[in-house]
Amino acid sequence: MTGTILVDHPADRVARITLDRPTALNALNLQAMREITTTAAELDRDPNVGAIILTGSAKAFAAGADIKEMAPRSFSDVFAEDWFAGWDTLSRVRTPLIAAVAGYALGGGCELAMICDVLIAADNAKFGQPEITLGVIPGMGGSQRLTRAIGKAKAMDLILTGRMMDADEAERAGLVSRIVPADALPEEGVTTASKVASTSKPASMMAKEAVNRAFETSLSEGLLFERRLFHSTFATHDQKEGMAAFTNKRKPDFRHT
Ligand code: CAA
Repeated sequence: MTGTILVDHPADRVARITLDRPTALNALNLQAMREITTTAAELDRDPNVGAIILTGSAKAFAAGADIKEMAPRSFSDVFAEDWFAGWDTLSRVRTPLIAAVAGYALGGGCELAMICDVLIAADNAKFGQPEITLGVIPGMGGSQRLTRAIGKAKAMDLILTGRMMDADEAERAGLVSRIVPADALPEEGVTTASKVASTSKPASMMAKEAVNRAFETSLSEGLLFERRLFHSTFATHDQKEGMAAFTNKRKPDFRHT
């Protein structure tokens, strides 16, 4: 069976998963879900990986869940198989995930990008949740993550009309971390991931956990959670090294412990 992804290591401590179903605009079938989540979980366990890039092609990050695979399924099928629940594995990855998005990021493609932590968009990127035009609704987190990212008014607009939003609108709305020229996207993805991967891994994992906790808890509980994590960084080698390096005006030599 041909694979749906390519995996490489474009820089020190950086892994990259490239969606590779060009004839289907990287539509996410069950095989792709299995391969992406299994690979990401493996990379997450690798102490030599400090950031993971998720990317697609110049034309499509991913044009959604695979409509042809879904079309014949019954309610009992998708309910019994708990269709899309497998993506939760990706949201449990603790290593920072960098989405580098060019072209279409629609339906499951937009939802996949939103599972990631930093979202870099090419200036040709197009985001949307067109499920409503197929007689269904988002199923990989769109109604929840998009609403948290860009607010109710805009999320409703996109989800109820199925329209696409270009990179500028997505950045203004707060969905996108930043926009880069399309031909610079691969390099920007690697540069950003390298920067993240060069920091202390325990610190970047804790920072990710703290930000994500903001979506799950009250402000006072979130502040306490953050403070306790901050305190715990003082048990690491890298806190001692990072602060000593600053004081001695040299580059830190993090050991990721
Ligand atoms: N599933 C399966 N195949 C897809 C696909 C998808 N989501 N998106 C594109 N493809 C296939 C097309 O069927 C076509 O295959 P064939 O050559 O065999 O016909 C090939 O990819 C190229 O696509 P187009 O010819 O349509 O390319 P285009 O440039 O004319 O249009 C597009 C691009 C606007 C993205 C269009 O392909 C499109 O609208 N795709 C579907 C987008 C969509 O509705 N996504 C939501 C899916 S549902 C979902 O994601 C549920 C969820 O919440 C998880």
